[in-house]
Amino acid sequence: MDKILADRTAKIDASGIRKVFALAAQLKDPVDFSIGQPDFDVPEQLKDEAIKAIREGFNKYSQTAGDVILRERISELVKKEIGSSYGSGLPGYGTLCRDERRDEWENPAVLVTSGVSGGLLLAFLATVNPGDEVIIPDPYFVIYKHVVNLLGGKCVFVDSYPKFSLPVEKIAEAITNKTKLIILNSPCNPTGVVYSEDSIKALAEIAAEKDVLVLTDEIYEKFCYDGKCTSIASYYDKALILRGFSKPYAMTGWRLGYAAAHQSLKPVIEEMTKIQQYTFVCAPTPFQKAAMAALDYDVSDFVSAYRRKRDLLYEGLKDKFELIKPGGAFYAFVKAPGKSATEFVEKAIKNNVLIIPGNVFSEKDTHFRISYATSDSKIQQGVEILRRLC
Ligand SMILES: Cc1ncc(COP(=O)(O)O)c(C=O)c1O
Repeated sequence: MDKILADRTAKIDASGIRKVFALAAQLKDPVDFSIGQPDFDVPEQLKDEAIKAIREGFNKYSQTAGDVILRERISELVKKEIGSSYGSGLPGYGTLCRDERRDEWENPAVLVTSGVSGGLLLAFLATVNPGDEVIIPDPYFVIYKHVVNLLGGKCVFVDSYPKFSLPVEKIAEAITNKTKLIILNSPCNPTGVVYSEDSIKALAEIAAEKDVLVLTDEIYEKFCYDGKCTSIASYYDKALILRGFSKPYAMTGWRLGYAAAHQSLKPVIEEMTKIQQYTFVCAPTPFQKAAMAALDYDVSDFVSAYRRKRDLLYEGLKDKFELIKPGGAFYAFVKAPGKSATEFVEKAIKNNVLIIPGNVFSEKDTHFRISYATSDSKIQQGVEILRRLC
């Protein structure tokens, strides 16, 4: 087989999650805290839009960069959300957000991608050379590490334990002349932590000083429970924004997302578009039509429901386990009792609760991830079982 497989396949490893799924296959009606997707279905109105698009014949390739109208809509949205707040409240951050740059938010560069995963692959392909360093706060979303490794890049993990706030100083210390990218993911998978506005401004200042590109994965930006989530793009031009439709509208199987950036990063978006031409070709066309309606769809009821689930889980576990109250997404990252999180996870699975060991998302094996994107009754059931195992 060695002759057949490319060497890069040995650089990635899927064993962590595979083990959980193998154990899970033996369970009947488990409490499933493992799945990173909403438990609600795509809103009927958006399904109707997708069906209508298929019936009306939007079944062929779209432009590589995405449907023109959808791109315009995304561009308007980004301009409104990022461009209008660009540089606001920045006394002391004089190197950032120069006035002449503000106008360039009038026309952000946009590419519609096949999910944020598609956007991540294109972004890494467009920026990371073998040997380049990519700074990643640990714990992290799994894709970053594996794709960077596949491309021969070097992941530089920066520990954010135990509070999981943005480790600004450690990131500053980790920057070298080989640093190509800093990854930000807020709200964060797996911790659920939302980075404070001050820490994001401080990182923007450092990235600007060192002139490093920041990739900001904002897939959970709508799931913010205790105030707003700040985008670093509001303070720093060299920030590549990746956002998606999978999580807020429960369309994980529709494979839609977008990359957007300030005009000064247009060459990066153009290179990503060029690579899309030879890989994904385009994001799924009928769903791009439905995505236009999604942009107008109010998800506040879903967000309120998930805030309540967050509270249910946090209140249920906080006196027995060490955990930081999640401010967004639908995850909690909980310290496992004992020395090995993997052992605790195996015990939980034997007791019908599916959780994921922290070493899938981290260089450490001390915590486990709970996804509380499930029914309230399953959350209560799972909390009771975990409390018993503690
Ligand atoms: C942080 C983060 N980024 C990106 C993705 C990929 O999402 P998708 O490709 O479905 O848009 C996920 C999915 O779980 C995620 O948690």
